[in-house]
Amino acid sequence: MDLRLQLWESVVVLSWAKVEAGPRVFSQISSMGDGGALDMPYPLTTAINRRGHLEVGGCDLVDLAYKYGTPLFVVDEETIRAKCQQYVQAFRHLEEDAEIIYASKAFGALAVCQIIREEGLFVDVSTGGELYVALRSGFPPHQIYFHGNNKTEEEIEFGLREEVGTFVVDGLQELDLLDRLSGRGGRRTDILLRITPGIETSTHKYIQTGQIIDNKFGFPLYMGMAMAAVKEALSKSNLRLRGFHTHIGSQLFSVDCFEKAAEIMVGFCAEVQNETGFVTEKLNLGGGLGIKYRSSDRPASIEEFVTTVVKSVRRWSDNFDLPSPGIAIEPGRSIVGNSTVTLYTVGGIKEVPEVRTFVAVDGGMSDNIRPMLYDAVYEARIANKAQHSPQQVVAIVGKHCECGDILIKEVALPPVQVGDIIVIPATGAYGYAMASNYNLQPRPAVVLVNRGQDFVIIERESYQDLLRLHKPLRQ
Ligand code: LLP
Repeated sequence: MDLRLQLWESVVVLSWAKVEAGPRVFSQISSMGDGGALDMPYPLTTAINRRGHLEVGGCDLVDLAYKYGTPLFVVDEETIRAKCQQYVQAFRHLEEDAEIIYASKAFGALAVCQIIREEGLFVDVSTGGELYVALRSGFPPHQIYFHGNNKTEEEIEFGLREEVGTFVVDGLQELDLLDRLSGRGGRRTDILLRITPGIETSTHKYIQTGQIIDNKFGFPLYMGMAMAAVKEALSKSNLRLRGFHTHIGSQLFSVDCFEKAAEIMVGFCAEVQNETGFVTEKLNLGGGLGIKYRSSDRPASIEEFVTTVVKSVRRWSDNFDLPSPGIAIEPGRSIVGNSTVTLYTVGGIKEVPEVRTFVAVDGGMSDNIRPMLYDAVYEARIANKAQHSPQQVVAIVGKHCECGDILIKEVALPPVQVGDIIVIPATGAYGYAMASNYNLQPRPAVVLVNRGQDFVIIERESYQDLLRLHKPLRQ
């Protein structure tokens, strides 16, 4: 047996334990540790039921696939709530007033935002569209942070009209524009300045955002550009500078880079205080904590991340003899990533002897662009063969007209047949959020599951939806 299969088996044996749950006996992925189920990228409620099927939130995934069709996103409410609560708990012991701000770009579904609002988090938005959804999901405007490196005048007007709590200013033109549009009713607009601190992180280059110079975001700590922006901000009569923001990257496994970011940012606050007298009220260290996409991934826990951020900000504030600023963070992926699985139906299998077996599913790059864009690596199972052991390594490919439309290059699965339901975990963040209509593929439905109940939270698009905005020629 190939080594990969042996490893996979040992993970399965370690992770699937028999438990008694009410009247039903089923195997459950033990929920231990922070990455979701033990060593698993799946939602916390994932289990194998009596029929030998995978279930999430008490709902049989095979039944959901038949009921709603595939591709289908299945979101576990309990996992989202648990992740929010882990953040709240982690801060509770260390920094009661910290702001935990959900980065809604990760998954901006109305119902998902509502759950996160109910858990007491704030929200960040980076476009007028995200702002609209945040407001419609009931976030009070003062709990909204407005990001974006090129906010349009309309977007700024929208934010001001709705009295958004804080604008995170990304450039000098925005500073001028926001100042010009602010000040109605004598009200100053609260702002943070986005700073790029010059930290290289070990993640895909498209999701590194803290490099110092060659970066479209924020004011760099280079040639005094960030300090000049502070002085400019302080001179604006309609703006009130409250502090600074940085976001150094995404899908980061180690907390060392956050420690470094805290050191550099607090150092900058000290320089600003020396040079201008401005005392930083708020320091927002962004999001970026990574999650498990595969059982072998080892991201830091939410608790480690929070502890590192709080302790480093305090330590460096002491070192620089500054009052410790209020802390904010902006997690996206680590809240919703592991809450969701995508279901696909196998439609075709092509075996190329001694090369590869291609298993074709009914979705692909239109519902998950991450493998193509970031070389993201996922794992998979077969929902209707959850207890079968893997026997072959296959590629799972999409249905789009691109050779690169490969969801997983190599994954060990039990023998696959047409009609099997493939489950790919950890698709909650930047999955539906980055879905497209490429090849005029309607976007999938999204179903929320909880305690055996399922609710559609985003309808599947129809062919009519695809033409909703089109106009026929000359009519
Ligand atoms: N704050 C700001 C300013 C951000 O730009 C981001 C993500 C976050 C917070 C949340 O970061 P998270 O905790 O989710 O890592 N599409 C890419 C990820 C792009 C991240 C963009 N910014 C992916 O699929 O990996």
